[in-house]
Amino acid sequence: MSTPASLPERSDSDRMSSPTWWRQASVYQIYPRSFADSNADGIGNIKGITSRVPYLKELGIDAVWLSPFYPSALADGGYDVDNYRDVDSKLGTLADFDEMAAALHEAGIKLIVDIVPNHSSDRHEWFQEALASPKNSAARDRYIFRDGLGPHGDVPPADWDSVFGGPAWERIVEPDGTPGQWYMHIFAKEQPDFNWDNPEVREDFLKTLRFWSDRGVDGFRIDVAHALVKDLSAPLPSKAQLEAKSHGADGFVDGTHPFWDRDDVHEIYTEWRKLFNEYNPPRTAVAEAWVHTDRRARYASPEGLGQAFNFDLLQANFDANEFKEIISKNLADAQASGASSTWVFSNHDVVRHATRYGLAESAGSEPSGSETEIMSGQVGKRWLLDGGLREDVNAELGLRRARAASLLMLALPGSAYLYQGEELGLQEVGSEIPDSARQDPAFFRNKGVDVGRDGCRVPLPWTSTGSSFGFGDGCSHLPQPHWFADYSVQSQDGVEGSTLELYRKALKLRSQLQSEEKLEWLPSSSPDVLHFTRPNGWQCVTNFGTAPVALPEGDIAVSSAPVTNGQLPANTTVWLMP
Ligand code: GLC
Repeated sequence: MSTPASLPERSDSDRMSSPTWWRQASVYQIYPRSFADSNADGIGNIKGITSRVPYLKELGIDAVWLSPFYPSALADGGYDVDNYRDVDSKLGTLADFDEMAAALHEAGIKLIVDIVPNHSSDRHEWFQEALASPKNSAARDRYIFRDGLGPHGDVPPADWDSVFGGPAWERIVEPDGTPGQWYMHIFAKEQPDFNWDNPEVREDFLKTLRFWSDRGVDGFRIDVAHALVKDLSAPLPSKAQLEAKSHGADGFVDGTHPFWDRDDVHEIYTEWRKLFNEYNPPRTAVAEAWVHTDRRARYASPEGLGQAFNFDLLQANFDANEFKEIISKNLADAQASGASSTWVFSNHDVVRHATRYGLAESAGSEPSGSETEIMSGQVGKRWLLDGGLREDVNAELGLRRARAASLLMLALPGSAYLYQGEELGLQEVGSEIPDSARQDPAFFRNKGVDVGRDGCRVPLPWTSTGSSFGFGDGCSHLPQPHWFADYSVQSQDGVEGSTLELYRKALKLRSQLQSEEKLEWLPSSSPDVLHFTRPNGWQCVTNFGTAPVALPEGDIAVSSAPVTNGQLPANTTVWLMP
């Protein structure tokens, strides 16, 4: 498609060679095990990604964010890392990684990798060494070991729950066979938390960041960036004491929680920033920090990581007022801190937005979920336990709203983070995944009450037929439902109005239209309509309501649903040019 006549042509390579390429980038998240499988073992791999670089280029994204691909027992989908400086043999080799990075770069696409610094896997050589070493040893000090309470030490040091359910402390057996100390794990028990007061831990992560930066990685996504620094001085507060101090879904707002969002965590990121700035262009970083909005800017500061995920829209209802408030606040915060804003609707931890927006509750005034609810799949629980996707979700409405929301997001200043499959309008997979096939620790640790996050991690459908819909020549590690055929790349490629073509068109236009990070709200004809303009006269109008409204003046550049007779239908976004 061509640039609207009123705009100067801007070359993509100019934009992407700038050191600030990330500020308004479109970043596509790849969950490697579920993207493309080149060797028919049912697990997506690095060579599979390389084979799909032409697809990514045609999609029009600026960067790929790769979820963990490191050696792992997959106790938590790869977020349990055995070795931070290698590639899982199930996914390929370092040479495959280099080949993929080169292919992406050749296509003008940057590469961001996931770094998991809060915890390692329990198979990591340091943790194995800690288990084999005595109490108070240097090896134990790299993790968080404590004696248990009670006369026999069989009561955990605190009654805290882990994010995935069940206790956050696990007792070990000492090398002499006796019941021993406890170690802390905010997530699964296979994910022991590092002790970030230990200088060896700090040094080792600097080494890891250098290792990947030297290999040409352009940036990092920092997993659970808000948990690294902890104050675990005795006596540890009880769960009840912590809850009493917490501000509901907002959690702690003053940095006094023993492990979430403590002020000292930023010292780590200041050190990392120095390292990132040694490279040309400086390596970028984005924090995954589920913190109060007022504390997010610290993670995103130019002296720190530079960007932080903003999950506010992800947690909002499809509602004009909520969207406007969130957008205005985040842009103001970004302007004040010098960061660029980030936007995201879907990722590997949450129910896909095409499904969330089709849940009966989210159409009305159902309050949005809190951090842990969304992360652990509780939002999906409402419909998954009620008998399955097709009956309980209005998939058509969900997709229509998801398309409108995504098109609005792609017009916002700042970076847009997309999750593989959303460009196909993919729905969450529900009860089609039998319990026996589930993988998410959230499912197991909650004894099946919480279905977990497997439903958004099902391998992508590339073709409409075939044993794994073109994911690979074999099966797929999570079962794909028959209706995946309708969402496949093959069924949408070149089809006017398909979700894939909508994303392709919008992403290409966006990269041509992006200029200053400015947005101005324009008056709209109804409280259900949001209308804003960007520099160059680029306008975005979304009708969140149920009735059509008159379309403002302008040439339609792209629309999320067909527009006829000068009317903007319900649940639709259009971009207009003067
Ligand atoms: C992050 C990841 C999630 C993982 C957790 C523990 O929130 O996005 O997938 O389970 O950290 O590493």
